[in-house]
Order: sequence, then C-alpha cells, then structure tokens
Amino acid sequence: QSPRVTAPQIRQRKGKDPIVALTSYHTHTTRIIDSYVDFILVGDSLGMVMHGMETTLPVTLEMMILQGLAVMRGSSHALVVVDMPFGSYEESPEQAFRNAARILKETGCGAIKLEGGERMAPTIRFLTGRGVPVMAHVGLTPQSIMALGSFKAQGREEEDWGPIERDAALVADAGAFAVVLEAIAEPLAAKITAQLPIPTIGIGASPTCDGQILVLEDMLGLSDRVPKFVKRFGSLAGHIREAVEGYADAVRSRSFPAPENTYGMKKAQPAKSE
Ligand code: KIV
Ligand code: NA
Repeated sequence: QSPRVTAPQIRQRKGKDPIVALTSYHTHTTRIIDSYVDFILVGDSLGMVMHGMETTLPVTLEMMILQGLAVMRGSSHALVVVDMPFGSYEESPEQAFRNAARILKETGCGAIKLEGGERMAPTIRFLTGRGVPVMAHVGLTPQSIMALGSFKAQGREEEDWGPIERDAALVADAGAFAVVLEAIAEPLAAKITAQLPIPTIGIGASPTCDGQILVLEDMLGLSDRVPKFVKRFGSLAGHIREAVEGYADAVRSRSFPAPENTYGMKKAQPAKSE
C-alpha cells in the first residue's frame, strides 16, 4: 500500500488538479472515505454534529484527540488534519505549540488546523518553525461566532475585502501549507487563490479554490439544517429512517430475530415428554 499523503504534498498541489477533502470523526466513516480523498479533517464541527452543541466553543482538546485517534485507526491513505479547539492556541505561541504537540504525539496525525489570519500569523510561524504543519482557516471562522454575532458569508462588499486578503497573505507568509477559505464571495476567493503561493481549500468559497471540503454528515444528507454552500450528495437520513422503521415493525411482529439470527443448542434436544 502506498504511503500516506503528507502536508508538503498538499502544498505542492497548488494550481494543479483540485484537492478533495471531507471531515470525519469516526473510524467506520473514515474507512469508507479514505481512498477517495486527499486529506481528512477531524473538524471541531464534531461538537455540533456529534454532540448537538450550538457552537464549536465548548469542544475540548481531549475530544479532538479522542476522535483524531479514531480517524487515524480508520485511514491509511489520506493526510489527517486535526482542528485545534477554541482556547487551546490563542493565548500564546507557546500554548499553541504545547497543545499542537499533544495532538501530533497522541494521535499520530500529519497536521493541525487553527482559525485566524493576521492575529495568528506569529503563532503559525512559531509552530511551522518547530516542525508542526499548519493549515490555516480564514473568512468565516466559527470559533469567533460570539464576536461576529452570526454565521454569515464574508467579503460580499468590496470594501470588506482588505482584511480578508491580508489574513490569507499573512498565514501563507507565516508558513501555513494550505488555507481553508470559509463562506466568502466568489470574486474574493478567486483573487486570494490567484495571489497565494499555497492551496486554498474552499467551503462556501466557489469553485475557483484549489480544493474543496465539506462536513461529511452535511453532504450525506444526515444533518437537519445545512448552509447554502452545502450540496447533499446523498440522503442518509431517509435510509436510516427506513431501516429503523423496518426493524421496529419486525420486532413488534416477532419476525425478527428469525431462525437464522437465533442460536440453537449444539446437540439436538431430546423430545420433551408430555
Ligand atoms: O470543523 C470543521 O468541520 C471545519 C471545516 C468546515 C473546514 O473547520
Ligand atoms: Na473547524
């Protein structure tokens, strides 16, 4: 089997064929998607998707490490990138390094991702200078939801472009190997992608990006509510509902378990008298 995709290999895909990525949090889903994607993100969206949290803010480092391990066990091809959760890296470059090192050492993943542009550039430089591959994330950054007020697309007015362009340029300059652009208008995504020396990975950021990522449960049709930028490529919720309805009916009518699902005795029972 071929070796795993590395962060430098993703970096070298700039301007070439599109980079394909999905999130995954579980071993079983990882086994299914591993050979189709270039990298898998263990996103802190797991707080909302797996645990029903309103935002990603309560997600802990321990949760990320636990699910990072689950994804590493299920994959052998894709690069695995693990999100640093809110509160685990913003305080100082030293805090970020300490927690990034825990993620790399305890999960065996190949890179970490953190949110923020200009303000995180010194931290990205500190990490990449010490052997930690960093994927950056600018545009809509869900960990800043309390400060932003709501999840909404960025850069839809040209006068708002400057800070986002600067964020993208500074994370690339600081050594990030790729950058996620979340929920930004197409012309801005196109401009940033053309200007940056590293791949842009879009989520709600138009087909002009060097790659695309979606949350797996959203694209499978398992999540109830999804943003405009999600296309449902499947309808898993319907399949699950059908299967569970069939199970409930079968149990209630005693047609399940059937003889083929039932253990008999090893030796034939003597016929009961009476
Ligand atoms: O947490 C996540 O799933 C993400 C992607 C949406 C990029 O950060
Ligand atoms: Na995330």
